[in-house]
Amino acid sequence: MLKQEDLAFYGEFAPRLMEIENLLSTEIQAMLDSISTDSETALAEHIKCRVKSAESLKEKLRLRGFPVTARAGLENLSDLVGARVITHFVGDIYTVLDLIQKNDSWRVVQVKDYIADMKPNGYRSLHVLLNVPFGVGGISDIDIEIQLRTIAMDCWASLEHQLKYKKNIKNTALIVEELKRCADEMASTDLSMQTIRDLIQRG
Ligand code: GTP
Ligand code: MG
Repeated sequence: MLKQEDLAFYGEFAPRLMEIENLLSTEIQAMLDSISTDSETALAEHIKCRVKSAESLKEKLRLRGFPVTARAGLENLSDLVGARVITHFVGDIYTVLDLIQKNDSWRVVQVKDYIADMKPNGYRSLHVLLNVPFGVGGISDIDIEIQLRTIAMDCWASLEHQLKYKKNIKNTALIVEELKRCADEMASTDLSMQTIRDLIQRG
């Protein structure tokens, strides 16, 4: 839900952004339901859609040296509207990717596979950039982002994100190394869980 300050910052663009968030959420749910509506076999543990808060958008624009306006965000950034799909198993991520690629509601612009190629800090997820029509204030289309992660990847990313905001961290090198080790251990557990599921499904 957009707060008053977000609505004020997005101005004339706010209604269309909320519409796109709804479209994204509806389409993702429909794609997941096309595979299974049974919670026992569901692909996703949960999904989350959001329009970026004005506060976080302003900070990103400032950091990147863009004018701090909604228009500059729409024209230069790709995650003003975003979704996260949290799956149980690694294999499910690629099943969802396939569904996203076959969906005519958008055009897939880019797939960034940080599972095959994790970031140096251990971050793993699969990001899909989509292009959708916009049609407000002379902006014809915008890019939006879906992040696909397992529960374990999401757990690590949430904790790492929270830690990044803590100030005056000492032993930085040690902390970076320990976080990377946790990411690798969680990835290894993800693979084991996938193997167990494959064994069970094979019967
Ligand atoms: P930015 O997100 O604007 O930095 O764009 P980018 O081109 O670097 O895209 P990238 O695919 O690297 O990251 C996009 C999003 O992924 C971020 O906004 C975060 O939500 C998430 N993300 C990327 N790297 C990390 C990371 O190291 N830790 C955590 N917790 N999240 C990350
Ligand atoms: Mg980044």
